Amino acid sequence: MTDGASTSAPATGGILRVSNVSKAYARGGDALRGISFEMRKGEFAFLVGHSGAGKSTLLRLLSMEERPTSGEVRVSGFSSQSIKRREVPQLRRRLGIVFQDFRLLPDRTAEQNVAFALEVTGAPHSQIGGRVARLLTQVGLASKATAFPHELSGGEQQRVAIARALANDPFLLLADEPTGNLDERATHAIYLLLREINARGTAVLMATHDVAMIERAGQRFLELDKGTLVFDGTDVARLKADMRGRR
Ligand SMILES: Nc1ncnc2c1ncn2[C@@H]1O[C@H](COP(=O)(O)OP(=O)(O)OP(=O)(O)O)[C@@H](O)[C@H]1O
Ligand SMILES: [Mg+2]
Repeated sequence: MTDGASTSAPATGGILRVSNVSKAYARGGDALRGISFEMRKGEFAFLVGHSGAGKSTLLRLLSMEERPTSGEVRVSGFSSQSIKRREVPQLRRRLGIVFQDFRLLPDRTAEQNVAFALEVTGAPHSQIGGRVARLLTQVGLASKATAFPHELSGGEQQRVAIARALANDPFLLLADEPTGNLDERATHAIYLLLREINARGTAVLMATHDVAMIERAGQRFLELDKGTLVFDGTDVARLKADMRGRR
């Protein structure tokens, strides 16, 4: 799958290209204006900005859950201008998506939550058990495989959600404030897990409010301010003063 992504991507190694994208909601006005950036295969980047800056909107455009009002999103060979509604699930199967509120199925155990992601894509039954065990081991939760979500801490639930997001070996993981509900220690552990996943070759785009995390990480960040991309780079000194002041 990962190889498929690279063959359909431009020669530069790009897996994602956002070109002059704007998004206006009928009720609510412009959520995004004139956004352009690219991500390369295996890259790690943060998406930062105040509440309402447009982070979740941008991530929904990347997963093609929504279409831009103008401009183009290209992800893994699919264009927002030509993708058909029935093709969207094909794209989303190749992406991993993680949310702040975990979104696990409450009546299924950790392993059943992860298995479900494989079942819906038609993975052979004989392979699901082994793959689920490997994924739970990768996120450090092998010992909690039969626990239900309400029996897990927030950090553990997010690990299950990450294992589920990795089930179909995504080339890109989109994480919308995955540590927003976690304390400092669990936040750091989830961040390290995402870096480890990235080191294995999956590109990661992680939305966060956590300026201290970005300052420590020294990684690329995209900064949104009221729907506009105001910075794209690694220079944390350029993080807007008002963003830094909010720690
Ligand atoms: N479905 C919608 N309909 C109308 N307006 C919307 C919709 N979704 C988002 N918006 C508006 O778009 C803007 C950007 O919202 P978005 O959720 O993308 O921000 P965010 O950066 O993710 O914020 P937060 O950090 O609070 O999650 C906000 O002004 C919001 O009210
Ligand atoms: Mg959001």
